Amino acid sequence: CAPGKLKKTIVLVGMMGAGKTAVGRALAARLDVPFLDSDHEIEAAANMSIPEIFARDGEPFFREKEHQVITRLLKEECGVLSTGGGAFLAERNRTVMSEAGVSVCLQADLDVLWKRVKGRDTRPLLRSPDPYKSLSDLYHARVPIYAQADLKVISDGQVSIDNMVDRVLEALR
Ligand code: S3P
Repeated sequence: CAPGKLKKTIVLVGMMGAGKTAVGRALAARLDVPFLDSDHEIEAAANMSIPEIFARDGEPFFREKEHQVITRLLKEECGVLSTGGGAFLAERNRTVMSEAGVSVCLQADLDVLWKRVKGRDTRPLLRSPDPYKSLSDLYHARVPIYAQADLKVISDGQVSIDNMVDRVLEALR
């Protein structure tokens, strides 16, 4: 990334419901650096929501766009980048992230994630007859990959966004 106040972009990764967007926005505000959000950029470029993109063009198309957007955002001024839950799973994304950034995984237990995502209709991968099982399957498949992040921060049930920002800054020290 282009050095500004930071020399690397702080890339937030982790499961849906871990708080990547909320924490990322607050962290960027605290540091007074740009806030970047890959899902938001994909939606803005397509002028469609993520469920619409999945329904119309399919997940492989979304993943391609996700890679392009992450690669582009990591060339902009260093800041905080929140990614979608699947982004860190692709090796090519992990490669660009490790070149320009430091990856921070926000970790939460399955039951905490479920409380945060249930009842919402914004996540196509949870649109199934049994959304809890879909989340659980993704969780168990992904946890070992998220473990490769440079830093891990616990995002448990009670913690406030502000406290999460403190924890991320502590991990970065
Ligand atoms: C996805 C997570 C979503 C979004 C898309 C796919 C995933 O982002 O990118 O629905 O594969 O886990 P959030 O983690 O912000 O929900």
